Amino acid sequence: MRQPLNFDWKYVGDYKDSYLKSLPKDASIINIPHTVKDVPYNYFSEEIYQKISTYEKCFDVDEDIKNKAIVIKFDGFMVKAKIYLNDKYLGEFASLYIPVEIDVSDVIKQKDNRLLVVLDSHEDNNYPPFGFVVDYLTFGGIYREVNLFVHPKTYLNNIYVRGDMNGKVNIEYDVIGDKDIKVKHEIYKDNQLVCSSDENEFVVPDISLWDINNPTLYTCKTIIDGETYENKFGFRNAEFRNDGFYLNNNKLKLVGLNRHQSYPIKGYAMPKAMQVNDADTLKYDICVNVVRTSHYPQSEHFLSRCDEIGLLVINEIPGWQHLSKDNVWREHFYNNVRAMVKKERGHTALIAHGVRVDESVDDHELYTNANKIAHELDKYRQTIGVRNFKGSELLEDIYGYNDFSCGDLKHGLDKPKTYKQNKPGLVTEYLGHMDPVKPTSDNKTKIEVALRHARVLNDNYMHKDLCGAIGWCMADYHTHTDFGSGDHICPHGVLDIYRNKKHSAYIYKADQDKVPFINVISNMKPGDVPAGVFEDIYIITNCDYVKLYKEGKYVASFYPNKKQFPNLKHPPILVDDLIGESFDDPRIPKKYHKKITKALTYAGTYGLGAIKLHHKLLLAFIMGVYKLKYEDVVNIWNEHVGSWGGKAKTYHFEGIIGDKVVATCDVGPSTKFFLKGDISKDVLVNEDTYDAARISLRYEDEHGKIAQYAPKIVHIETKGPIELVGDANQVLVNGQLSVYIFSKNEKGKASVKLTLEDQELTYNLEVK
Ligand code: GAL
Repeated sequence: MRQPLNFDWKYVGDYKDSYLKSLPKDASIINIPHTVKDVPYNYFSEEIYQKISTYEKCFDVDEDIKNKAIVIKFDGFMVKAKIYLNDKYLGEFASLYIPVEIDVSDVIKQKDNRLLVVLDSHEDNNYPPFGFVVDYLTFGGIYREVNLFVHPKTYLNNIYVRGDMNGKVNIEYDVIGDKDIKVKHEIYKDNQLVCSSDENEFVVPDISLWDINNPTLYTCKTIIDGETYENKFGFRNAEFRNDGFYLNNNKLKLVGLNRHQSYPIKGYAMPKAMQVNDADTLKYDICVNVVRTSHYPQSEHFLSRCDEIGLLVINEIPGWQHLSKDNVWREHFYNNVRAMVKKERGHTALIAHGVRVDESVDDHELYTNANKIAHELDKYRQTIGVRNFKGSELLEDIYGYNDFSCGDLKHGLDKPKTYKQNKPGLVTEYLGHMDPVKPTSDNKTKIEVALRHARVLNDNYMHKDLCGAIGWCMADYHTHTDFGSGDHICPHGVLDIYRNKKHSAYIYKADQDKVPFINVISNMKPGDVPAGVFEDIYIITNCDYVKLYKEGKYVASFYPNKKQFPNLKHPPILVDDLIGESFDDPRIPKKYHKKITKALTYAGTYGLGAIKLHHKLLLAFIMGVYKLKYEDVVNIWNEHVGSWGGKAKTYHFEGIIGDKVVATCDVGPSTKFFLKGDISKDVLVNEDTYDAARISLRYEDEHGKIAQYAPKIVHIETKGPIELVGDANQVLVNGQLSVYIFSKNEKGKASVKLTLEDQELTYNLEVK
């Protein structure tokens, strides 16, 4: 029996010996997941959450505890804690990113238990990732859930159910107590029993395979006397081979992003709904097929969601470049490998264990042992080690390579054969710090970086012997002062820190055919570009081609740039003519229109001063023969080109598939502005702990273009049993913002009102 212990803890942000007896009267009432310190959007010190704090939970046990084995399991706290139950000191435990389980059978009472956790969130050099610098923050708190288990005296732990594509099931577990125990397994599909066995290895007939498009999951019920355990699993084979990655014997190019599990304001302390939201965003919104959980074991909710939706996962032990020779550190390192593999091996979506500290130097002994531990605990999965250099000693099954070689649009990725040593090769990071994109970066940089993502994706497809490439990274993240832009944010995400899209995210979204879309990533505003010259107008779309209309007149059709990105399904489209057929001046014969258009387009792209002699001669000829005055030419210029001195124009883009318009996008004068939003869900359900919703806000003009330079304040008011995460006034970044809402431990109707100047949005919610 599992009893969640997440609601209604008492918390104080410090520690005194007197707390061992009782917490002060003014202690706050909090729920787990919890952060010891809400952090500002940016510009704060990593010291603010490194402190000692005290948590207390008083509880009764629901189930009869007589003759039972009782375990308290913490899914994750940062960094280490002295734990007491009913005044008995249970010991000091370090968690960081791995669960801590404590057998409390001898101390627990049926009623009036008092669990006290004195949490020390200081960085501790005895534990990876600490010891030198780290490019991410390790926010303090009991940031994952806490559960109490009432087991029979003999019970099973760490159950690992694995199914292969031939229907074979292998089940492993640890027996706690009497080893001579009878175990039975039942396999269910959609709640229907399909097979049962007393063996730990058996074959299920007529299986449906698990893959990324049809992630069919089965349930294995493992039954012992007094307890039944349920584990979900799928039937599939995943193999990295020298010539690529294979899922169920079909070659699949891996396209993915790295994920940090941190969020604005709450750091690591986000409940299931937001972990699920990240997985869904990667799968359905950005549309990648793999995620690397860099650089540590992540939430079980995130991993389980990846199983459910068919998003492949590569995990990784805690670490960042630094290795220590110190034995204590190394023991903790081994323990992390052991704990990570045990925690995560049951996830069908997991395709490799990352057992090497990201970008560390070679260490024969450490990594020989790490691979041995992983292979012993999971003989069905390959291991990967991630380095940022070539010629490293390869002790893992897969050479993970952080390839930061893309410096322009001419080169995306290095040739895999230069590093992979005739073994499977996977690019585990690219771009990242080489190409930061902040909310304040200019649009030219934003476009260039998006195109570099396209270039790398192109090379990922081009290198047939490469298993795939995983970019750095999903979302911007908070980091130590040694990194980032001085503001403690690394702006390397294809999403901003609030999980709202930057241009680069659309490059991945364009790599699918399910949901047609069109996005003109250029701002097309004269003050945004030097001399008001709109060069490099790029469209990201998965449509076959795009038709452009200017002020209602057809201009031209534009096609994916297959020349520059030959291996992409839907390369970006360059719009290099804003005049086209819209030039139809009756004073000038038709036969000259194309030539004039060319001259004007050239001038529009490179500036008036740059026009060539033959353009000048043409214009002089036309002016002379057709008696156009200087002001006539100026008017032509202003109508067709002039962005600085001309009237702002409206451009209408139609995305076409076959002969149908499937998506449209307008860019034009911005005169009216609207606050728009999407809420991730409006019914919040309190189960094991509180629930959460994300309201993703955009400030848009009348054409739906994001007002990307809007540092506007949104005022937020809530009513009912919900809690606003952060302040009542929050600021848009990139013209976007996410507002997070948590449910309180009550039921009822609730609402959120968001106000920006004279705009208002209201969401009605319900907490169940
Ligand atoms: C890599 C590292 C990542 C991140 C990235 C930024 O070297 O593995 O954690 O720092 O650089 O591009």
